[in-house]
Amino acid sequence: MTGVGIDAVEIRTGKLKLDLAETFAPAKGEEPGKYTKGLGLHASSFPDEFEDIVTMGANAAHQLMERKGLEPADIGRIDVATESAFDNSKPVSTYIAGCLEQVFDGDFHHANKGERKFACIAGTQSLDDAYNWIRAGRNRGRSALVVCTDTALYARGDPGEATQGAGAVAMLISEDPDLVELSTEQGYGSADETDFLKPNQQFPSVDGKRSVQVYLARMREAVEDFESVAGTIHPDDFELLPFHTPFPGMVRKAAALAYRHMIRDTEIEETLAEDIGRQPRPEAFDTEEAYLDAMGEYTDQLVETEQYTEWYDRAVDPTLDISREVGNWYTGSVHVARVSGLKHALEAGLDLTGKRLGVASYGSGAQAEVHAETVQPGWEAEIAQLDIEEQMADRYELSFEEYERVHDIHNHDKETEADPLTTPEGEFVFDGWGRMGERKYRYVE
Ligand code: CAA
Repeated sequence: MTGVGIDAVEIRTGKLKLDLAETFAPAKGEEPGKYTKGLGLHASSFPDEFEDIVTMGANAAHQLMERKGLEPADIGRIDVATESAFDNSKPVSTYIAGCLEQVFDGDFHHANKGERKFACIAGTQSLDDAYNWIRAGRNRGRSALVVCTDTALYARGDPGEATQGAGAVAMLISEDPDLVELSTEQGYGSADETDFLKPNQQFPSVDGKRSVQVYLARMREAVEDFESVAGTIHPDDFELLPFHTPFPGMVRKAAALAYRHMIRDTEIEETLAEDIGRQPRPEAFDTEEAYLDAMGEYTDQLVETEQYTEWYDRAVDPTLDISREVGNWYTGSVHVARVSGLKHALEAGLDLTGKRLGVASYGSGAQAEVHAETVQPGWEAEIAQLDIEEQMADRYELSFEEYERVHDIHNHDKETEADPLTTPEGEFVFDGWGRMGERKYRYVE
């Protein structure tokens, strides 16, 4: 059987922008460096008054289908991954299909539609579902549409407020894909955790510091599980390592642990031993605390080495370019990281065809998943058509007062009327409420 993977991708950012250093930091009485250096974020995207998870997802899917010359009959499955759903029964994919049926001839009546929930990892799980459906031979030659869409908003004043974001990623999953082929091998790290959750509430309850530790612990388990099926991994195995990116500083921490793990018992560890010693081994310590302290010191020195910096700048930093400017998109975040890394490679003139990516997804609650992807010959053309730079540059820049109002508009517990700050053109917009409390949408030429 031919390979299965991501055939096409489109990204849609919320149309508003909040600058963290210039606008958010002064209003919060914080140093801009906390956001730009500490968290690694420069700006967040927000949805305008007429945008939500349906419009952003439908606009990304519409753009993707038009560009690929697809009709509804070519799509056998629509899965939406989100942790911002507004209905406990009717899935967002039905709303998105309804939008698309306004602009395409034909319908999606024979497509299987669903909604996936497991915090930010649901997007990757939807890719899995599509992959499995195609590999099982149930797709009748059709492709699957996976849409990751979120308005990642936190309660005002929550430490997570600085990491907010809004946007959607639409991906077409097919046989013989143009962008990347997914590996059969996968690794999981999964445990019952209460680090970040939304028990029937819009904004999350977050134990921020703990969530960082849970991310790292589950990711480590997933890497070990992946190695148990795919063999030991080495830093040279992967051209890029897209991670789930709630904020780039989180990935900085995860990358250091991943590199440390990958170089253990390799020629890299031996070479570095002259300067920083070998990695501490647990059997050399009386207590776990002493071992962890020594490991912490080793890691601090490791990230200062030339070997580490070269690897990080090549394989990880390029995946963070878009995230820095748009914030956390929850389910879409790791898929934005993949695109960001490939875009950087295209601009640098690198030939990635046949090279491998190591993709590391995470969802609070909590689960990490690691798999590999092989870049396909059509990747350059696919990445070259993205207009995310233009979209980011065209965003309306919010004052702090406007940001407060926009947050209120999208707060389900508040009734805030306000005019939009941008003018919709060639896109789906929210169009008010129906008789059963459903949300309605229309296409604006
Ligand atoms: N210059 C440079 N750096 C500075 C600085 C300055 N002036 N001021 C602070 N910093 C650094 C801090 O040292 C810290 O870096 P380290 O962690 O490397 O030490 C960083 O900036 C952040 O500062 P604080 O830790 O003081 O920030 P905080 O406590 O206000 O918030 C947070 C951090 C808890 C992660 C918060 O952003 C949060 O709750 N975020 C939401 C939860 C989240 O994203 N968790 C990530 C894992 S869970 C996940 O991935 C799922 C998901 O998508 C939500």
